[in-house]
Amino acid sequence: MGVTQERESIVWVWAALYAELPVNTGKTVRYQGDEVALFRLGSGSVKAVQNRCPHKDGVLAEGIVCDEHVFCPMHDRRINLSSGLVQAPDTGCVRTYATKIQDGAVYIGFPMSAEKAG
Ligand code: FES
Repeated sequence: MGVTQERESIVWVWAALYAELPVNTGKTVRYQGDEVALFRLGSGSVKAVQNRCPHKDGVLAEGIVCDEHVFCPMHDRRINLSSGLVQAPDTGCVRTYATKIQDGAVYIGFPMSAEKAG
């Protein structure tokens, strides 16, 4: 997994080849203790969120994607993949991560804490 540091606060981590990401199917990406669910949406955009549902830790990369949302596979809570917010009537949120597509590859932007920076 390649790592590129941009500015001081984000580390861009190579996550997948864009062409090899199935549409509307999650992929789990791990980097230094963070576990992220990466999705290529039908619109062509790529979204990344914390991989664990705030309700009872359902694995969001295994959820069903519809438009800009993923449905948790455990109890079907619907989470917006742009904001990370659980949709009403349920409540909660998951962390969102920046993504970029560059030279056919998908990168996830991980916040770089002082301890990770070494
Ligand atoms: S664990 Fe996700 S809805 Fe319950």
